[in-house]
Amino acid sequence: MPLQDKVAVVSGASRGIGRATALALAARGASVVVVYRQQRDAARAVVDEIRSAGGRAHAFQADVGRANSVRALADVIADEHDRIDILVNNAGVFGARPIGELDSAFFDEQFHNNTLSVMLMTQAFAPLFGAAGGSIVNVSSNLARAPRAETGVYSASKAAVDALTRAFALELGPRRIRVNAVAPFITRTDMTDGIPETRLEHAREKTPLGRLAEPEDIANAIAALVSPDMAWVTGRSLLADGGFTD
Ligand SMILES: NC(=O)c1ccc[n+]([C@@H]2O[C@H](COP(=O)([O-])OP(=O)(O)OC[C@H]3O[C@@H](n4cnc5c(N)ncnc54)[C@H](OP(=O)(O)O)[C@@H]3O)[C@@H](O)[C@H]2O)c1
Repeated sequence: MPLQDKVAVVSGASRGIGRATALALAARGASVVVVYRQQRDAARAVVDEIRSAGGRAHAFQADVGRANSVRALADVIADEHDRIDILVNNAGVFGARPIGELDSAFFDEQFHNNTLSVMLMTQAFAPLFGAAGGSIVNVSSNLARAPRAETGVYSASKAAVDALTRAFALELGPRRIRVNAVAPFITRTDMTDGIPETRLEHAREKTPLGRLAEPEDIANAIAALVSPDMAWVTGRSLLADGGFTD
């Protein structure tokens, strides 16, 4: 198995893309740290599913947008594991608001959960990678490149993730730690539950591959990026969007 004996930390792994990523990495042999914020039962169900399939996993609670919480998480994981090999910064929140309804609290919520979290997690976990290096994947969005009306703040928070990805790849390259991003388009999770059917239909029609993404589509792209086959790829943001984005 390509990720045999690797230790992977996945944030936002209780649901959606993070859950699918935890399962995909475990299926390839990794021991997975399932990080969740609120949904403990859902996170435990992911751990149980991995263990029932013969894999290894543990769940830990943390708010990845808060420095104290991230530091505590890194300390616990440093006690449990000699090193980590893979970090997936997946946790995030989506908000859309028009001009006139924007305020600092909304900006802070989007940037704390989507952007600050990537900075805090990377800084806290970089020292835990071993001499052989490893791989970090940040979950961005196609909106970072092609924002839609009313998604300016979310899109900016993800464009900042792409910039952090490039800069952190430069800094961590000498330690053989690759840093890349995956940028999905609409993927069927709780986050996209509220999107009206007409908009989903339009998105389906405009997607060259003719359907919307399932969480497993994005998880498989992440698993591919962290695999040894991608050892020469770093500092990139990969659109995983069925060909939608121009
Ligand atoms: N779905 C899409 O169409 C889509 C498209 C482009 C990009 N993305 C990005 O993909 C990532 C995953 O999205 P999703 O659709 O899978 O979302 P989701 O189903 O809403 O799940 C979000 C996950 O993130 C966790 N989370 C949020 N804020 C957190 C925090 N501060 N600390 C720790 N965990 C936190 C949640 O944990 P709890 O439930 O335990 O609170 C949950 O596990 C996000 O970064 C999102 O922006 C999604």
